[in-house]
Amino acid sequence: MIRIAIDGPGGAGKSSLAKAVAAKLGIIYVDTGALYRTIGLYMLKNGVDPKDAQAVISKLGAFRLELSFTDGKQVILLDGEDVGDSIRTPEISMAASAVSAIPEVRSFLLETQRSMASKNSVIMDGRDIGTVILPNAEVKIFLTASPEARARRRYEELLAKGASVTYESVYSEMAERDKNDSTRAVAPCVPADDAVMLDNSDMTPEQTVDAVLDIIKKKAKKHKKRSGYMIVRAIIRPFTKFFLRIHVHGLENVPAEGPAIICSNHIAIRDVFIIAVSAKRQIRFIAKKELSRVPLLGRIIKALGAVFVDRKGADVGALRSSVELLEQGELISIFPQGHRNPGVDPAKTKIKNGAALIAYRSGADVLPAFINVKKHKYGFFRRVDLYFGELIPNSELGFVNGGKDEYEAAGKKIFSAILALNKQEPRTLEENEN
Ligand code: DC
Repeated sequence: MIRIAIDGPGGAGKSSLAKAVAAKLGIIYVDTGALYRTIGLYMLKNGVDPKDAQAVISKLGAFRLELSFTDGKQVILLDGEDVGDSIRTPEISMAASAVSAIPEVRSFLLETQRSMASKNSVIMDGRDIGTVILPNAEVKIFLTASPEARARRRYEELLAKGASVTYESVYSEMAERDKNDSTRAVAPCVPADDAVMLDNSDMTPEQTVDAVLDIIKKKAKKHKKRSGYMIVRAIIRPFTKFFLRIHVHGLENVPAEGPAIICSNHIAIRDVFIIAVSAKRQIRFIAKKELSRVPLLGRIIKALGAVFVDRKGADVGALRSSVELLEQGELISIFPQGHRNPGVDPAKTKIKNGAALIAYRSGADVLPAFINVKKHKYGFFRRVDLYFGELIPNSELGFVNGGKDEYEAAGKKIFSAILALNKQEPRTLEENEN
């Protein structure tokens, strides 16, 4: 199932775009504006001023509104009758805009819209699909174009239908509707935080369709990877939690979204799992290439979306993919020591330049973390303390022009922030239970 939300102002071409994408993907297209238009139509037909909120609200229970699909085409029945194209006039556009500002009208239509997306893969267009109706949609696009381009398209569309309108009247009606729709108190037409912005002023309809299909493909790929990660994480979590009593400190320091580089000390391979099951969002690990060949473990780490580095030389590919992941807003994790350092004083190990180099190239901030594992006196189970420190802003890492010296200095700075987190004396398991 996929839910695609297309929001944006009138005339940006949402409906023809959504129709084309729906046909290509074999999913249904839900035109939510048509629902508001139908209510506008009903009000006008029954002598109700669409701007008179009380009068509109009092009529909401007086009619039957049904949304159905015939051969993939949306059909709206108002009291059993197909409204067809009667809702596509400038007069109805204004009425729809007026009724859509009434909160009761919006809640009246909420379930109808959501229920379509709960049963089917949909592409739904409107003003508040990504923000209110389907906040968890896999793909959100905010489609826009300059007011001139939008007015021209609407004007040509209306002319083709034989309407007698002028460009000026279409333009000014559009401007008024834009203002109503984007400044109203409930569900204004604004992009969702996670929407992809697409301005198609200079694009043909075909180019817009291609651009949107491209966005959908990329998102779907990412989504698939993410759900794979979450499945693997869900599988390893109970095992990890069974053998290791993990206590996480400073989880609030892990940014909920956006890029960051988690840098932690490295005692054993299990560190990867400790970090993966502790953080609430997907983490991409930078792991050495040899790990990918270890039976089972290699497959698990690969499924967790690791980027493999060749430790023998500077691995340009891994560096580039780490930077790309950060540019896409992902959280990555790297062990600046480059290898495990069990049992020895971590303060005495050499720091590799990889973490600092990635920070320099990506401009991302660094999140220091410290893992402290205390062996239980009966052997098997261990107490783990994982500390997440405060984010080190990239600007504090001392980068000017890059280069070995700067990476070394930044590496040292990162590593001392890691070690500074080791404040608490490790306790035995019994002490923890008390
Ligand atoms: O997309 P459209 O022009 O058919 O929409 C008609 C009106 O309905 C528009 O002026 C704003 C309103 N609308 C809305 O408020 N929320 C939606 N999801 C869809 C449309």
